[in-house]
Amino acid sequence: MRTLHTRHDLREALAPLRREGRSIGLVPTMGYLHAGHVRLMERARTGNDVVVATVFVNPTQFAAGEDLDTYPRDAEGDARRCREAGVDLLWMPPVDQVYRDGHATTVAVGGVADHLCGRSRPTHFAGVATVVLKLLNLVGPDRAYFGQKDRQQLQVIRALVADLDVPVSIVGVPTVREGDGLALSSRNAYLTPNERREASAISRALRAAVDAWAAGERDPGALRDGLTARLDAIPGARIDYAEIVHPEHMSPLGSAADAAAGALAAVAVHLGRTRLIDNVRLDEPDTPFLSATG
Ligand code: PAJ
Repeated sequence: MRTLHTRHDLREALAPLRREGRSIGLVPTMGYLHAGHVRLMERARTGNDVVVATVFVNPTQFAAGEDLDTYPRDAEGDARRCREAGVDLLWMPPVDQVYRDGHATTVAVGGVADHLCGRSRPTHFAGVATVVLKLLNLVGPDRAYFGQKDRQQLQVIRALVADLDVPVSIVGVPTVREGDGLALSSRNAYLTPNERREASAISRALRAAVDAWAAGERDPGALRDGLTARLDAIPGARIDYAEIVHPEHMSPLGSAADAAAGALAAVAVHLGRTRLIDNVRLDEPDTPFLSATG
């Protein structure tokens, strides 16, 4: 594995691979890598000749007062994980290699980006879309891999690529969870031991929604109330949102009839100083979410 830092070195390393017609898989990350990121790299490894991973804590997707300065970092550990996962090229650029002096262009995604996290973090998805488009342009991959843990982000990127005719396939990868159901996230490192114990109730609340759906409940209001009640019962938790939404458009479902196309339960919860997000498709949940009884 080669670790590169400048855009020049990245382009130089990729040019011969592209000339040889080798397929390239890209895994963009903000580092502090865990088994969720590694799952994306493994998927990229099996699907492509060359795997490129990037570690870049993208300042433009953080608003003032968010955790940009404290975002956990571990360059050495990240490089080790990438090597073990079979990454060929790891790009870890400093900020000035991604954003030139005077950078003044932003990609604004509408529609899917307007709901859920887009409401509580209004500038977030423009930052994500801008950096992801830049990474796609810099690397020119055949496929790029994103986690369903950040389902809305995945849909925003699908919209970006479709709307702007970016020649890449976007691959969504199921959420990797701890044994107690908590979705892996770099931000879990912020949790105190007590908050970490409480955090497992978030995935249990989602699983209860899966069970309710399996039992025939289709009323988005009832599903949402059940979810909210369970999240409200977590000591020290403050709900940012808990919604039943269209699985692709992320718009809140109004009636049971709207749920015919499937439904996604999506939540964001503040536990102490940590904001955690999670989601599950109610109509086709990932394996860890399958009901023990059904
Ligand atoms: P980051 O939070 O580091 O996540 C990088 C990728 O890993 C994302 O596609 C995310 O959905 C995926 N991921 C995170 N936790 C996961 C889990 N438990 N299971 C499966 N996949 C998981 O998301 C970002 O970085 C940034 O917004 C980025 C896309 C890199 C743009 O800056």
